[in-house]
Amino acid sequence: MEHNEMDTLEALLVARHSCRAFLPEHIPQATIERILSAAQRVPSWCNSQPWKVTIATGEVVTELSARLFAARMQGMEEPDVAFPETYKNEYKVRRSVCGWQLYNAVGIAKGDREASMAQMMENYKFFGAPHVAIIHSPSELGAYGALDCGAFITGFTLAALAMGIATIPQAAIAGRGPVVRDFFDIPKDRDILCAISFGYSNTDHPANQFRTERAGLSEFVDWA
Ligand SMILES: Cc1cc2nc3c(=O)[nH]c(=O)nc-3n(C[C@H](O)[C@H](O)[C@H](O)COP(=O)(O)O)c2cc1C
Repeated sequence: MEHNEMDTLEALLVARHSCRAFLPEHIPQATIERILSAAQRVPSWCNSQPWKVTIATGEVVTELSARLFAARMQGMEEPDVAFPETYKNEYKVRRSVCGWQLYNAVGIAKGDREASMAQMMENYKFFGAPHVAIIHSPSELGAYGALDCGAFITGFTLAALAMGIATIPQAAIAGRGPVVRDFFDIPKDRDILCAISFGYSNTDHPANQFRTERAGLSEFVDWA
């Protein structure tokens, strides 16, 4: 392993962003397999590799989307792992800022509930992505299984980008855990954590025209 790879890695880390409009073209199976193999090189506690990935393509994605739409219309969210009840302080601010970046990019005005709901529902269309990976973890591993799956998600998004493929992790899909579980027959002893929608980016789409910021080191590092 050469030790001069930082420029490449940094370029990938900086260029990666969540894609919210995809082109319909499918990714070759061999490319998807290469991304998966690269992503699974991430570390996990005692090398447990708790992630499992259920991948849907094309018409299966369309069918899942229809089920999720119907479920969303019926109301309550039921994630396997409870969603945060609240975001406070800087977390609240960052959440709001990235939300407004998206709304400004796609031209949603403050108070336009109909347009913001329509944008939210894009989650259940997977933003037009031809492929969706559902990430699930064994329930008994709890937060540590989810932690390892987070690493896998990062590996997946970076490996995909290295092959010119755009991604977006989507916890919104975990909010409809029972629908996803039933659709794919995912065992009850696994927590559905999120989806990753992926495909080629529609780079001209307004939703893909903004980039999120990051806090400075002083905001998240304590040098003890
Ligand atoms: C675990 C996880 C879940 C996410 N869920 C959603 C989601 O449901 N819908 C969405 O539009 N974006 C979702 N995102 C994307 C984040 O909003 C995004 O990563 C964040 O704003 C930083 O922007 P960037 O990915 O473009 O750098 C999720 C990201 C992560 C890591």
